[in-house]
Amino acid sequence: VLVVGATGTIGSAVAALLDVRHEVLHASQSRAPLKVDLADLMSIRALYRHTGPVDAVVCVAGQAIFRPLAALTDADLSTTIGNKLMGQVNLVRHGLEQVTDGGSFTLTSGMLGRHPVPGGVAIAMANSAVEAFVRAAALELPRGIRINAVAPSWVKETLVAMNLDPSRGTPVGAVAAAYGRAVEGTMTGEVLDVSQP
Ligand SMILES: NC(=O)c1ccc[n+]([C@@H]2O[C@H](COP(=O)([O-])OP(=O)(O)OC[C@H]3O[C@@H](n4cnc5c(N)ncnc54)[C@H](OP(=O)(O)O)[C@@H]3O)[C@@H](O)[C@H]2O)c1
Repeated sequence: VLVVGATGTIGSAVAALLDVRHEVLHASQSRAPLKVDLADLMSIRALYRHTGPVDAVVCVAGQAIFRPLAALTDADLSTTIGNKLMGQVNLVRHGLEQVTDGGSFTLTSGMLGRHPVPGGVAIAMANSAVEAFVRAAALELPRGIRINAVAPSWVKETLVAMNLDPSRGTPVGAVAAAYGRAVEGTMTGEVLDVSQP
């Protein structure tokens, strides 16, 4: 299982969970053994050339900018779309040939698309587009390959790291479990909402 974003708060928990039953390949922009920049198509292609065939791809990465609408710049929007949306879309498009029959892609969206908050315009757009991509792509993926998205709400450990009240956050283990279900289950075209248990 290739995990992109394996060094992150959610990604490290996902990699640890999957590592119990699978061989996990850890990828991220700078800290994992396999390097990839989701915003760079050549880098995504190079990653797949390096991994060869994989049974599943999990993406728990993709920068997105949180900034009020009035302050949002063109660069903020293009970073968010280039990373969180097109980075994940390209990970699927350019990974299709490397995923084995009956394999899967699991992407990451987030609750802000359906439950927006002020400052979350760019992220909300990207999240909803990722979910639309997953629903539509599921109709066309060949060889029994599945695709789903996990939509986390605030993760408790992230809130702690940001010195915010963690009481409404979801423990990272519960979020990681949703990725495990997407990889090992049979669903396709679904968005797995993960909020407080
Ligand atoms: N944490 C939350 O509360 C929360 C809630 C809802 C949705 N989400 C979504 O969940 C995803 C992961 O969040 P997180 O909190 O786990 O993030 P995080 O702790 O900041 O980790 C981000 C991960 O993504 C990698 N990464 C960043 N930019 C990349 C790029 N251009 N190409 C490849 N890898 C890149 C990082 O690699 P390096 O370590 O090598 O830099 C790291 O492994 C994000 O899409 C986020 O929007 C998170």
